[in-house]
Amino acid sequence: MTAVPRSLLRRFKWNAVSFAKSLREDLHGLPARLTQPGRLGEPLNIVHHVGTGDFRDLGQGLLRVLVEIGGLQPHDHVLDIGCGNGRLAEPLARYLSSEGAYLGFDIVRRAIVTCRLRAPGRANFRFAHADILNAHYNPGGRIAEHEYRFPCGDCEVSFAFATSVFTHMQAPSIAHYLAESARVLRPGGRVLFTGFNVDAEAREALASGRAQAKFVPWMEGAHVLSAQSPEGGIAHDDICWRRFLADAGLQLIEFRPGGWRGQPGMGDGQDIFLAEKPA
Ligand SMILES: C[S@@+](CC[C@H](N)C(=O)[O-])C[C@H]1O[C@@H](n2cnc3c(N)ncnc32)[C@H](O)[C@@H]1O
Repeated sequence: MTAVPRSLLRRFKWNAVSFAKSLREDLHGLPARLTQPGRLGEPLNIVHHVGTGDFRDLGQGLLRVLVEIGGLQPHDHVLDIGCGNGRLAEPLARYLSSEGAYLGFDIVRRAIVTCRLRAPGRANFRFAHADILNAHYNPGGRIAEHEYRFPCGDCEVSFAFATSVFTHMQAPSIAHYLAESARVLRPGGRVLFTGFNVDAEAREALASGRAQAKFVPWMEGAHVLSAQSPEGGIAHDDICWRRFLADAGLQLIEFRPGGWRGQPGMGDGQDIFLAEKPA
């Protein structure tokens, strides 16, 4: 009998764990779905997992971040990198004006199908699927992350964002995605993204056990939640994030440390970076 490769067993175990986690989150959200009007049809984590918590509240909270920290305006032409099942597309459909436009892409086909089914029906909203290989989200993908060209032309976008996407990507992929962001942004355009930045404070939080996300050192400059599934959660050293931005020709204009570092009263959110393509 052929021995089942260990890597396959590990992947099966990881998938079973992540399915169980998604199911638990869906069950946890069930009372809200059943009791609050309009919530019954919200996307299920077992179809596509985008994170713990309340789909609508988190989407609204993230929109506030784009507006208050990123300076997003209703007339912006927006690119949503790794749009998932439309957690941001839905509040953006109410926020963007008819002069604005939205394009979201993701590597999971069923996420894009979900977005289209739930689409606000506005002509200026588009969703694209990209069959990109990511060991956690799309292990059978045919395009390498560091070779993918974003589905828009040079200087077409005034505001790009990636919420909880670079947390699943290795260094060369992030460097490439930021270079692509710079390509599609207009001069003066902005990109806001979230991630885990291991700077001096985060290093201390990890060493003391205070950090809520328990990253362990992995490859040079990177830290993971599990070495068996690195793309399940990756943090990068501060110096790497700065190099990714500088190499892409983007200027960091704001950095907000997130609650994952374990500072009291800050929740468990990721760090936020805001960068600009120089005019
Ligand atoms: C935690 S979810 C966040 C989804 C969405 N940004 C949100 O905030 O609701 C991470 C998403 O990144 C997508 N993703 C992973 N690797 C990607 C890549 N290389 N390019 C684009 N999307 C990617 C996944 O399919 C997944 O939908």
